[in-house]
Amino acid sequence: MARVFSGVKPSGKPHIGNYFGAFTRWAADQQPEHIYCVVDLHAMTVPYDPAELRERTVDLATWLLATGLDPDVVTLFVQSHVREHAEATWILDCVATMGELGRMTQFKEKGGGRDSVSVGLFNYPVLMAADILLYQSEEVPVGDDQRQHVELTRDIAQRFNHRFGETFTLPKATFPTSGARIMDLAHPDHKMSKSEDSPQGTIDLADDEATTRKKIMRAITDSGSEVRASEDKPGVTNLLDLLSAATGRPVADLERDFEGAGYGDFKRAVADAVVERLQPVRTRYAELRSDPASVAEALTKGADRARSTAAATMVDVRAKVGLTA
Ligand code: TRP
Repeated sequence: MARVFSGVKPSGKPHIGNYFGAFTRWAADQQPEHIYCVVDLHAMTVPYDPAELRERTVDLATWLLATGLDPDVVTLFVQSHVREHAEATWILDCVATMGELGRMTQFKEKGGGRDSVSVGLFNYPVLMAADILLYQSEEVPVGDDQRQHVELTRDIAQRFNHRFGETFTLPKATFPTSGARIMDLAHPDHKMSKSEDSPQGTIDLADDEATTRKKIMRAITDSGSEVRASEDKPGVTNLLDLLSAATGRPVADLERDFEGAGYGDFKRAVADAVVERLQPVRTRYAELRSDPASVAEALTKGADRARSTAAATMVDVRAKVGLTA
């Protein structure tokens, strides 16, 4: 059984792209060797509001629980609750190089060459390496934009092992093989990202039913009238992917169902399916929000479990790098 680790950042509001792209996949196959982390320390690398960070961290964990992650099976925890992440980052900082961090695409894009960006933004991938390596993770399910960070993690682990002796498992990134990379409904050439950036194109998990329907009905479609997935029909293709994710049915079957149908009927069917699929999750979320103690308890249990693994790794790491006991 592979040790799996993934992280999700509490910045912005969770949306259906996160839900279909990650959360439901994590919930579909739950094993004691799977570890999921709300990475609050990563959310501090760009300017933020402390009260909002606190709120979003709990909120994101609540959505993960509402999706069906079972804290008695998997380990679900908040990154900053396990201090070893910060400690390991420093040690790995002394192994990582300026050159390799400077080559990270995400840093170049987000940093934009400005001197005023935080050192934390530059260092972001090393904290991510610490997340992964502390648990001797073998597989790291991520979106394509994180591929480079996982490769860097592997390089850092390899260099550490070479310099100090066999310590870390070398991880590899895994990518969902089928379906659901949900695109922005208003700009179907971009991945769905934050509702702050594209309010019409993003369906937040917290949106109500009417808003969800409205955004789907207003989604960009393409010229022509056929409900068919193809490269020159990014809008329709995205809605087919969304319907497929919501119903669990292959796109080819859905294309057959909607042969001869207009975009209006098709969109109504997508809206129905998405609303129906999210309804129990939204209900469960509301229940959990009214019982914050149960969420806190789940996260405490997760942090305790994560800490025992992370602390054992750090005993080995500290000894290997020459720190006194
Ligand atoms: N950087 C990842 C993202 O933006 C989040 C993340 C942090 C992560 N630590 C991780 C993902 C460890 C996988 C493993 O999506």
